[in-house]
Amino acid sequence: MKAIEVDLAERSYPIYIGKSVLSDKALFEQHVTSNQVLIVTNETVAALYLSQIESHLSNVNYEALILPDGETYKSLDSFNQIISRLMEKKYSRTCILIALGGGVIGDLTGFAAACYQRGVKFIQVPTTLLAQVDSSVGGKTAVNHPLGKNMIGAFHQPVAVFADTEVLSTLPDRELSAGLAEVIKYGIIRDIEFYDWLEENIELVRKRDDDALEYIINRSCVNKAEVVAEDERESGIRAILNLGHTFGHAIETALSYKEWLHGEAVGCGMLMAADLSMRLGLIEEAKVDRIRSLLERTNLPTQIHKDVSLEQMLENMKVDKKSRDGVLYLILLNDIGNVFVTSDYTEQALKETINHFLS
Ligand code: NAD
Ligand code: GLY
Repeated sequence: MKAIEVDLAERSYPIYIGKSVLSDKALFEQHVTSNQVLIVTNETVAALYLSQIESHLSNVNYEALILPDGETYKSLDSFNQIISRLMEKKYSRTCILIALGGGVIGDLTGFAAACYQRGVKFIQVPTTLLAQVDSSVGGKTAVNHPLGKNMIGAFHQPVAVFADTEVLSTLPDRELSAGLAEVIKYGIIRDIEFYDWLEENIELVRKRDDDALEYIINRSCVNKAEVVAEDERESGIRAILNLGHTFGHAIETALSYKEWLHGEAVGCGMLMAADLSMRLGLIEEAKVDRIRSLLERTNLPTQIHKDVSLEQMLENMKVDKKSRDGVLYLILLNDIGNVFVTSDYTEQALKETINHFLS
C-alpha cells in the first residue's frame, strides 16, 4: 500500500493506493470522524462494493443513497436528492459523506458536501481508473447544467481518498482505456520518465497487472498532488492538467456526450494539441507519432468522430472554460514532458489541425 499526501496546509489529506486498501477497516474508520454517515453511490457500484463499505461502518449510523447510473445524473436534481436526504434525516454540520463510484458520483457528492451547511467532510472512494488518477484528487466538484458540463461547482477537498486497485477488476475495458488517457496525460505534461515507462509497459497495464496498476495510480496521483499543492484554485499552473480538454470537450459537446467517454475525447484532444504544436514548429513530427502510437496501443481514438464538423469544433471551443476575455488559451507542447499555456497560435494552424483529424 502507498500513501501520498496532498499538501494543502489545513486541507491536506492522504490518498491510499493499492490492492485491498478498502479491506483495511481500521484505516477506513480512522477517517470516519462522525456518527452520521451518508454513502452516495449508483446502482452499478452499489451491487459490487457497497457491502464492503458498510462492513466498515458497524459502529456508526449510516445509510446509503443509491442513484441511477450515468452522466445524466450528475445534475441539480440528484444534488437536491442528497441535500433533501441530509435535511430530512437531520444530519448536522459534523456529518460525513462517502462518495463510492466513478467521477460522476465523486463530483456530485463532493459538490453536495461543499454546499450542505456551507461545507461538510467527505471521503472519496473512487472505483474507476479515471476517478482514481484524476477526479477524486484535487477538490474540483461539480454538477452539469443543461447548457454546459461542470458549470455549477466548487473547490472542496475530500478528507481522504481510497484508491483500491482490486475494484478495477470489474471495470469494462473501454472504461479502463478512458482512464489511461488521463494517465498518459501526466507523462506528456510533466513526467517524461513516466511516459517512457508507459510506452514500455502499456500492455501489462491493460492486462491489469496489480503492480503495474498500483504504479500508474501512484505516479499519476503524485503528479496531480504536486500540481494541486502549487495551485489549488487554478490561477496558473493547474491549467496544464487540462491538456487536450478544450479539443476533447468540443468533441463531447458536438456528440451531446453520448458517443465517446470523457477519457476518449481527452486522448484524441491531447494528440490534436501535439499536432498543433508540431504545425507551430514547437515539436517534431516524430513526437506526435509517438503519442499517436501509444494512444492506439491503449485502444483510444486518434481521429475525431465522423459526426463532428469543423464548424462545430470551432464554435464549441469558443465557449470553453479556458477562454478569458474572448481569447482561447490552449495547452501546447514544447516536448513530451513539457507543456505550457498559450494563446499564441494562428487560427489557420488550428483549422489545419482540426481538418487533419476530421479526414
Ligand atoms: P462514471 O462515474 O460514469 O463511471 C463510468 C462507468 O463505470 C459507470 O457506468 C459506473 O457505474 C461504472 N463503474 C464505476 N466503477 C466501476 C467498477 N469498479 N466496476 C464496474 N463498473 C464501474 O465515469 P468516470 O469516467 O469515472 O468519470 C467521469 C466524470 O468525471 C465526468 O463527469 C467528468 O466531468 C468527471 N471528471 C472530473 C474531474 C475532476 O477533477 N473533478 C476530472 C476528470 C473527470
Ligand atoms: N482534472 C483537472 C483538474 O483537476 O484540474
